[in-house]
Amino acid sequence: NTNQQWGGRFSEPVDAFVARFTASIQFDQRLYRHDIAGSVAHAKMLNKCNLLTDKELADIIAGLEAIRQEIEQGQFEWSIELEDIHMNIEARLTEKIGIAGKKLHTGRSRNDQVATDIRLWLRDEIDTISGELTRLEQGLSVLAEQESQTIMPGFTHLQTAQPVTFGHHLRAWREMLLRDAERLQDCRKRVNVCPLGAAALAGTTYPIDREYTAELLGFDRPAANSLDAVSDRDFAIEFCSVSALIMTHLSRMSEELVLWTSAQFDFVELPDRFCTGSSIMPQKKNPDVPELVRGKTGRVNGHLMALLTLMKGQPLAYNKDNQEDKEPLFDAVDTVRDSLRAFADMVPHIRSRKENMRSAAMKGFATATDLADYLVKKGMPFRDAHEVVGKAVAYGVNSGKDLSQMTLEELQQFSATITDDVFEVLTLEGSVGARQHVGGAGEYLKIG
Ligand code: ARG
Repeated sequence: NTNQQWGGRFSEPVDAFVARFTASIQFDQRLYRHDIAGSVAHAKMLNKCNLLTDKELADIIAGLEAIRQEIEQGQFEWSIELEDIHMNIEARLTEKIGIAGKKLHTGRSRNDQVATDIRLWLRDEIDTISGELTRLEQGLSVLAEQESQTIMPGFTHLQTAQPVTFGHHLRAWREMLLRDAERLQDCRKRVNVCPLGAAALAGTTYPIDREYTAELLGFDRPAANSLDAVSDRDFAIEFCSVSALIMTHLSRMSEELVLWTSAQFDFVELPDRFCTGSSIMPQKKNPDVPELVRGKTGRVNGHLMALLTLMKGQPLAYNKDNQEDKEPLFDAVDTVRDSLRAFADMVPHIRSRKENMRSAAMKGFATATDLADYLVKKGMPFRDAHEVVGKAVAYGVNSGKDLSQMTLEELQQFSATITDDVFEVLTLEGSVGARQHVGGAGEYLKIG
């Protein structure tokens, strides 16, 4: 027997392998709630436009609700022959309620249906992801507040550059996430447009009310062009691009956490419950969560490329290619949501090893720029001051002394203008505290 939804013009059933090859039910099942919500709204619109009776509408709504429960209780029998979530649900509806079930698809196509389902589903996921982003961002805020007085080395080229505070560093992470949150909200605007009514590609001959359907589903408006409505997947690409950036930020944080938890840095400690051990080396406590997040970033970057490539050669309007949008998008959502969740759970429990951070900052001549600035304030041109301090650093490297550990006489070898007020600028607090302008490392340092 041929397919009950489209078998009319076929003379033999689909090849069994082809049925499996072309089916999406294995992965689009997860759209079931949104598929049902879309169908309920579509049916209400058909009823409002006198295309379904009140009784038919009531049967459809009750039938779909019963199907939702069957699915949630694991009692629904999925069929590969019915290809996808849309036909599986519709076939079951007709089985349950008869003729009214067959009328549901009036003025609709799976093309506008699937585009609607993905948008509804992604909108929910964006809201969940936004929540996790906010939770992480707030966790960073609290930790940054606690670590505002913790001096650590700031790096460029991973070489000690100038002292900063751990709080300042955490606030830098937070800025990245605040931009991500903005991008996510911007992306959501373009997700929240309703394709229903576009039908297969050209719209429909029934007197439908697209504004009404869009409003019922909480969309901002109906999509403006039917061809675009069924073929546009920009919103999925945009989401993956936002996600790739979120993962890039988490990956950069991860890299720092991996470095900082090493015995060589020993700047921070992660709670045991976010780490795992080694089956051979008893001493090991590995930073698995950051490492995995760093690793998972590659998947999301890959999904972005997959979707861009999926769309690049497609003529208007819907093509079956588009069924390939789901797995990358679903996995991008799962990956970014879970990675944010792991970070949001972990960040509040990061503990700093303040003495190690401080002694690391003492080691790399982190206050050399401060000494140069000091000489400039005494009237020396900056380039000359740079040269003078360079020589003092070379002396420090040879004698194993930090600038702050040299005597006044030692420092005066390099410039006679140096007096004993120099030691205030050579301390770590002095250096950070001198940068209290907006956005500077000392903005939140309490001095005095
Ligand atoms: N499973 C399909 C997809 O995911 C639904 C739309 C199919 N439409 C069609 N004309 N074959 O894109």
